[in-house]
Amino acid sequence: MTKADTGFKNEPGIVPVKIAVTDPATITAAAGFAADTTLLVNNAGIAALIDGLLSADIAAQSARMFDTNYYGVVRVTQAFEPILSKKPSAAIINVLSDIVWLPRPILAPYAASKAAAWSYTNQLRFHLRNRGDQVLGLHVGFVDTDLTNGIDVPKASPEDVVRQTYDALAAGKSEVMADKGTVVLKSTLAADEPGYITPPSGF
Ligand SMILES: NC(=O)c1ccc[n+]([C@@H]2O[C@H](COP(=O)([O-])OP(=O)(O)OC[C@H]3O[C@@H](n4cnc5c(N)ncnc54)[C@H](OP(=O)(O)O)[C@@H]3O)[C@@H](O)[C@H]2O)c1
Repeated sequence: MTKADTGFKNEPGIVPVKIAVTDPATITAAAGFAADTTLLVNNAGIAALIDGLLSADIAAQSARMFDTNYYGVVRVTQAFEPILSKKPSAAIINVLSDIVWLPRPILAPYAASKAAAWSYTNQLRFHLRNRGDQVLGLHVGFVDTDLTNGIDVPKASPEDVVRQTYDALAAGKSEVMADKGTVVLKSTLAADEPGYITPPSGF
């Protein structure tokens, strides 16, 4: 998250490495360079509003969203998992969204790509369950970052989301709902009419 990671880059021992999750060569190079990795954070993501579910650009926008938000996670995980599996303790954090459980037609390509990434996260966690690698899915609503500039809604602070995520990681959890709205939304999933059919009040 751009605003929150500014300080990160100044931490002693942190070496920034440029990577494009849509470009396998940069991923391979990063994995070769960062062979001491014990924590992989799949944070890169893009979003775009569309005119509607039948708009002309929905296929192109979906392809673009999936390339970064889904295949990006798959590519980077594939490259780093062999590194992580050699470590006595390793973890993967996948940055997801409350959108996987919300009907938001203007964000349909983004929502679909994040739902795919959520599914992949769950398959990966189960696949790695006997290796001791922790897989943490982060779900959150609007966060005050560059992605949401110009959207006038209440937003969680990046610092709070990051703090809750690392607390959940330290506690050995598999998922974190990093704002109150997402906690409420997830609590509706077992209801007759869950939030992905009728969003709870406040959404
Ligand atoms: N902000 C929200 O309300 C919100 C809510 C739920 C989930 N999320 C998720 O949180 C994550 C971070 O988003 P953000 O809000 O911090 O957005 P942001 O401020 O726009 O930052 C997005 C980050 O992703 C990087 N990125 C985009 N495409 C990339 C690619 N192909 N390869 C490598 N890096 C790429 C960007 O790098 P460059 O700057 O170099 O382009 C930037 O660092 C995303 O996965 C997003 O879906 C955000």
